[in-house]
Amino acid sequence: MTSPTCLLIRHAQILLPNGEFLFGDVQTHERKIVQVAPHISATPSTETTLTREIDADGLILLPGVIDPQVHFREPGLEHKEDLFTASCACAKGGVTSFLEMPNTRPLTTTQLALDDKLKRAADKCLVNYGFFIGATGDNLSDLLQATPTPGIKIFMGSMHGPLLVDQATALESIFASGDRLIAVHAEDQARIRQRRQEFAGRTDPAVHSQIQDNQAALLATELALQLSKKYQRRLHILHMSTAEEADLLRRDKPSWVTAEVTPQHLLLNVDAYAKIGTLAQMNPPLRSPHDNAVLWQALLDGIIDFIATDHAPHTLEEKSQEYPNTPSGMPGVETSLPLMLTQASQGRCTIAQASHWMSTAVAQGYNIPYKGAIAPGYDADLVLVDLNTYRLVRREELLTKCGWSPFEGWNLTGWPVMTIVGGQVVYDRGKLDTRVRGQALTFGEAFSVALGVPRTKDVGR
Ligand code: DOR
Repeated sequence: MTSPTCLLIRHAQILLPNGEFLFGDVQTHERKIVQVAPHISATPSTETTLTREIDADGLILLPGVIDPQVHFREPGLEHKEDLFTASCACAKGGVTSFLEMPNTRPLTTTQLALDDKLKRAADKCLVNYGFFIGATGDNLSDLLQATPTPGIKIFMGSMHGPLLVDQATALESIFASGDRLIAVHAEDQARIRQRRQEFAGRTDPAVHSQIQDNQAALLATELALQLSKKYQRRLHILHMSTAEEADLLRRDKPSWVTAEVTPQHLLLNVDAYAKIGTLAQMNPPLRSPHDNAVLWQALLDGIIDFIATDHAPHTLEEKSQEYPNTPSGMPGVETSLPLMLTQASQGRCTIAQASHWMSTAVAQGYNIPYKGAIAPGYDADLVLVDLNTYRLVRREELLTKCGWSPFEGWNLTGWPVMTIVGGQVVYDRGKLDTRVRGQALTFGEAFSVALGVPRTKDVGR
């Protein structure tokens, strides 16, 4: 069977780059969007051009989600997840691109390891991919030269082995060298170590949020911010989790600093331990309802720039051990878009804002060319969602290899009906086309502002 080279998506509510909706049609040719208009006349298929028409009546067309923080476990930890299963879950969740973290085995701390991941992804990823290069105390030349990568990942805490960089001198030399983006997991390891001793012997997983407390996160974020200001270094704060960090950025956020939050830090809090036990355990930990509220406001006010899932699957067997022997982390790529669109449908934010935080702002923050907007010339990475029906998150339906979600039983709307990657339909009403392959992302100059894509604060409320 020949795959269509053109798609004609008809009668959709199309989210435009200015945050408004157009009822109309979108035409793609090969990997690109070529036309967006109230009505596009069909061009008949020829020997070289096959057009597929898609009736999107009643559906909303959004730019595909770009998830800027995931842990997909390949190579080395494939019993939890691999690039194929994770990218299937992405396709089902409307995630058309992802940025993956270096704590695999071997660690992604060299060009060789980065090349290996890129090759594996080219072989088996249904969506587009990019991989961070991980900082150790002594791989400065790799950090400066490895390519292509969205940036350098530093675990300031919550890590063990070579990826833990918690010494001020090592951090200083990374911030002082080169100019590529540094993304930090900001938790203070000295404080965590000390509090682990204080709470030793406690097996209630809720104690996790007390050990790795708000202060541990704040101390590390303060240090990262200080170094970023000293060297005017592009900094991204990963999965910000506390009111204190949001307040800090509200007082003092240089133009070259961005921050993200996860759906779970917006929507779950310490109450979750009583319901789902160690499935609620992650780093940085879940916080209080007050933190949820302050993070939401920071997101609405543009203090927090975008949303990442920190998809970090572990098996149910691993999660069923006794705390503190249980691993931290939860999956997220299949539920992030419906979770946020359900919030939008409940009036917490607009659909345009949710899409901005999950796609446009990520493309801007990481300078990913031609992603994150529905406009001619942009890549045809798209998701059609249904905001008319609600469906429960069910374990049996999940594609992530770990087979569970912290949101099981939640009744959500905005589920993807169809996901398109580079002009190819990869997910269509419950069915995956596993022949589709994404491409390696590139990271270039800032471009989308020039094309009129608004920043968060300008997106329609
Ligand atoms: O909870 C987490 N788990 N946070 C991280 O930053 C790492 C992740 C993992 O890789 O399991």
